[in-house]
Amino acid sequence: ETKPRTPVIWLHGLECTCCSESFIRSAHPLAKDVVLSMLSLDYDDVLMAAAGHQAEACLEETIEKYKGNYILAVEGNPPLDEDGMYCIVAGKPFVEQLKHAAAHAKAIIAWGSCASWGCVQAASPNPTRATPVHKVIFDKPIIKIPGCPPIAEVMTGVITYMLTFDRFPELDRQGRPKMFYGQRIHDKCYRRPHFDAGQFVETWDDDNARKGYCLYKVGCKGPTTYNACSTVRWNEGVSFPIGSGHGCIGCSEDGFWDKGSFYDRI
Ligand code: SF4
Ligand code: SF4
Ligand code: F3S
Repeated sequence: ETKPRTPVIWLHGLECTCCSESFIRSAHPLAKDVVLSMLSLDYDDVLMAAAGHQAEACLEETIEKYKGNYILAVEGNPPLDEDGMYCIVAGKPFVEQLKHAAAHAKAIIAWGSCASWGCVQAASPNPTRATPVHKVIFDKPIIKIPGCPPIAEVMTGVITYMLTFDRFPELDRQGRPKMFYGQRIHDKCYRRPHFDAGQFVETWDDDNARKGYCLYKVGCKGPTTYNACSTVRWNEGVSFPIGSGHGCIGCSEDGFWDKGSFYDRI
């Protein structure tokens, strides 16, 4: 109770803000407890009350006051083409804000597939040269929490771990926490017995779809996707895409946007 709360700066680059939308729905722990009791969220241009010059002053104040001690959370990524002009924050290219805040951070959290891999805005031919955080910042420890968006309880679970042990959880070779990204969706999918038995949905509205058979033949990427959706699930553990009848599109994997996850044009 007497330990000072860890300062956090949360930046937003080229993104859709649904990582924040996911985060605020965390039930275990509640997002409000994370933000008000566990962390000191000193700058987040989406969630903070201040705006404009006041907000930017908070950013500078936090960097100055907590040099080397704050966590930098990044949602979205910097587009590097045209000197970063495709994403301007407070009158400057986002890439400048990112480098400035990263220079004095203790560690960086790359939220979601935008910050971790590039995501849909990096889809071929990547017209703005949207670039993931680890390809811009090289001298700081970075933990990737991919997913489009990541699961709320995975986000707050990682924060809880970092605050409790003052270190990152064990990471895989791509920089993702093994505790949440150590297994494929397919490994724990409840439709797996149908896969093993060779029972597949062949077309979206066939009888096998109504019977809840495996979605592999209609494009499910669960066998190659590392994420916790089939165990932690979404909306307080209620369901996940496969539970709603659609295959996994592999939204937590690098390059999913260019690897046939989406429907082809007819
Ligand atoms: Fe939105 Fe997906 Fe990017 Fe998160 S990773 S900001 S959900 S596009
Ligand atoms: Fe695997 Fe997808 Fe079939 Fe589930 S629905 S068993 S994840 S292929
Ligand atoms: Fe994404 Fe697949 Fe989970 S599409 S939300 S990783 S089931």
